[in-house]
Amino acid sequence: MPISNKIIDFMDKGSWIRKMFEEGIALKKQFGEENVFDLSLGNPVMEPPEEFFDELKYIASNPIKGMHRYMPNAGLEVTRQSIANELNKETNLNFSSNHIVMTCGAGGALNVVMKTLLNQGDEVVIFAPFFVEYQFYADNHGGICRVVQPDENFLPDFESLYDAINEKTKIVLINSPNNPTGVMYSKEILEKIAKIISEKEKQFDSEIFFVSDEPYRKIVFDGLEYPHIFQFHPRSIVATSHSKDLALPGERIGYIAVNPDDLNQDILIDGLVFCNRTLGFVNAPALIQYLIVNLQSITIDIRKYQEKRDFMFRELSLIGYETVLPHGAFYMFPKSPNKNDVEFIETLKEQNVLAVPGRGFGFSGHFRISYCLEDSTLEGSIPGLKAAFEHS
Ligand SMILES: Cc1ncc(COP(=O)(O)O)c(C=O)c1O
Repeated sequence: MPISNKIIDFMDKGSWIRKMFEEGIALKKQFGEENVFDLSLGNPVMEPPEEFFDELKYIASNPIKGMHRYMPNAGLEVTRQSIANELNKETNLNFSSNHIVMTCGAGGALNVVMKTLLNQGDEVVIFAPFFVEYQFYADNHGGICRVVQPDENFLPDFESLYDAINEKTKIVLINSPNNPTGVMYSKEILEKIAKIISEKEKQFDSEIFFVSDEPYRKIVFDGLEYPHIFQFHPRSIVATSHSKDLALPGERIGYIAVNPDDLNQDILIDGLVFCNRTLGFVNAPALIQYLIVNLQSITIDIRKYQEKRDFMFRELSLIGYETVLPHGAFYMFPKSPNKNDVEFIETLKEQNVLAVPGRGFGFSGHFRISYCLEDSTLEGSIPGLKAAFEHS
């Protein structure tokens, strides 16, 4: 075999979204673009905000000498300071540019964090349903994921969390607002998770890091306030990006923020910067770092996503789907009317509607739809969703 057996196995396990994407292309060829409703991808159709294009024009007309050269591996000072200022406003903490490491997206950030923290065989606690890449990222750095089950509202089952943490646990990784459920963790939930982590640290005389993967942090609905993790645990780290809040997933820009109250922050930050370099990222792309300096308080129009959520939630409920109301991100995770979610996805496909089975997120019996799509795609998918429900 020309490539590793493990990668062959991983490609098979982690291929649901890719598979649906390819099937979507084939269906569109057969039936025409306008007759296929692909709800499988989290690739926002929204364009970046006006302010992004203003910055782009400005920098194109006023280039800075040396701006395309190598830079410190942590990223540009001016960008990191701007992010630190924004975090200080949001958290009332005392971030400096030193606490920020610019990365190639949230995916890059998570890999850098795991590379820095994990010893061979260390465990990363994740919460089902989860972003499937976590398992591959942990494996990249010798780690193993241990999965915590959710309650009926896709919030953590605390008993399951308690049982999942052991002497090998190095990271407890949350994702809120969540892909695929859209659920957001409240302050009380973060507090409870942090309390369990602290108890377990005492029990095992260990150091566990509370890591929050939050690329959807600014996509929050119903006027809810986003609770940051930093106040709940000193060893807390945020991995995030502007892939969703500025609709820039192709630009690969994100960052890591380290809790300013972490007593061992110096060695941690040095490790993160070293790993950003040696994983081959070297530094996050230069041009886009300049572009986001003045965009830290700018977000795409959240109201549009909330309208799309309202539309899909109403229509799915009218059909009879059971869905937990999402408070953020741009996904829903309804219960599959057929217990076998893969079979149900096939039924949907017969209606030219594409979605991802729950098992693609480590949680069968549900399916994920994205609604970061054109209204015409969402509206067009409803008859197919109805027919598939009735045929199941
Ligand atoms: C939960 C979650 N984490 C991380 C990522 C990766 O984000 P990025 O494109 O910034 O690497 C995604 C992308 O969809 C995601 O949904």
